[in-house]
Amino acid sequence: MIQEALNHQFFEMMRREHRELTDVIGTLREQLQEKVPAAEALRLSITKLADLALGHFEHEEHGGYLCEVIEQAPRLSERAETLKAQHATMRDDLSQLVELVDQVAAGQMSVNKLRENLNAFLRSLLDHESAENELVQEAYTDDIGSKD
Ligand SMILES: [Fe+2]
Repeated sequence: MIQEALNHQFFEMMRREHRELTDVIGTLREQLQEKVPAAEALRLSITKLADLALGHFEHEEHGGYLCEVIEQAPRLSERAETLKAQHATMRDDLSQLVELVDQVAAGQMSVNKLRENLNAFLRSLLDHESAENELVQEAYTDDIGSKD
């Protein structure tokens, strides 16, 4: 019962985090469509994206699906490890983006470079999230769910 309540809380948290990430990604996409995006507004959104994504990766790795999938569905653990490794890459990408937007805000870098990197990052983040969703679905329907 306690475990169930904790799981429920955890899934609610994940859902909230996904929603917040989706919102900030939407804002960023709109900002990127502007011909000359306001650097300060971009800086705020990218900082927010970085905070949210870093917290989200942390939650997924500790107590999140990653440990559970690796423990309970060993045949999927390689995919879980691959996704975990992507977190490390995306952490680096996020710090680069934060540096880049600081340079844009300081007028030391063109916004085009930032636009390119940010679009590529958003694509990889969304691909990563959907691969995770698939993995969790598979783990719960095939392995974990059948143990009840
Ligand atoms: Fe993730």
